[in-house]
Amino acid sequence: MARTPVIAGNWKMHLTRRKASGLARAVAEAQGEAEGRRCVLFPAFVHLEHVRRKIRGTTVLLGAQNCHEEKEGAFTGEVSVPMLKDMGVQVVLVGHSERRHVFGESDERIGRKLQAVLRARLQGMLCVGETLEEREAGRTFEVLERQLRVLRGAVRKPEQAALLSIAYEPVWAIGTGRTATPETAQEAHAELRRLLGDILGAEAAASTPLLYGGSVKPGNAAELLARPDVDGLLVGGASLSPGTFLPILDAAPAAARAAESHG
Ligand code: 13P
Repeated sequence: MARTPVIAGNWKMHLTRRKASGLARAVAEAQGEAEGRRCVLFPAFVHLEHVRRKIRGTTVLLGAQNCHEEKEGAFTGEVSVPMLKDMGVQVVLVGHSERRHVFGESDERIGRKLQAVLRARLQGMLCVGETLEEREAGRTFEVLERQLRVLRGAVRKPEQAALLSIAYEPVWAIGTGRTATPETAQEAHAELRRLLGDILGAEAAASTPLLYGGSVKPGNAAELLARPDVDGLLVGGASLSPGTFLPILDAAPAAARAAESHG
């Protein structure tokens, strides 16, 4: 089994319709029908349809930044997984640090969201990562272990494990310009893969893509991707313009890497 590199753009609460469409078109042209790397765009809900049209016929995947865990109901302002699936969404981001720290989502809630995504047979990208305080207290691995524990309830079958990816986004590196060094990212990713082995088994651990996120830029993308357990990048600020996102996309090695040698 091999892991295909993944470059993902999380647009957060940015861009107008016109800008979102233009950016999606530029990414669609750059990615085309490439199979050797995956590219995912996570626009705001209101732009999903515009982006979907621009990336049609390419291998760019349509992602949503969040979802509600219930299928439907009286939850004003929320969007369910069946609604996203119906819109053509293929990947859902779950547990982004802004959902955890700004909107107060608990591990338990995040676990239910991930379960809803995987049950609907959509791909789930679970975000994890420690705060600066936790890192300085030497608690990084403990935090990652706690955040991954949700997989025990959310991933019930091997075919669901195949839909999973993990994004390691240290909170202190998000939007701060302070990128984790490639060594720090690799160290956390190696631990994540070890934890995945305990929870999901060796085969799933070897094939699950592990993305790094936090102040990724054109200048640091290649050195991060060169690390054996960094299979992709989840890009925030630098994903908002073709001038910075396309060079990051190009930094992804065109060929999938062999999982056996690192698993
Ligand atoms: P920045 O790349 O802006 O630091 O954001 C990272 C992020 O949160 C991606 O999900």
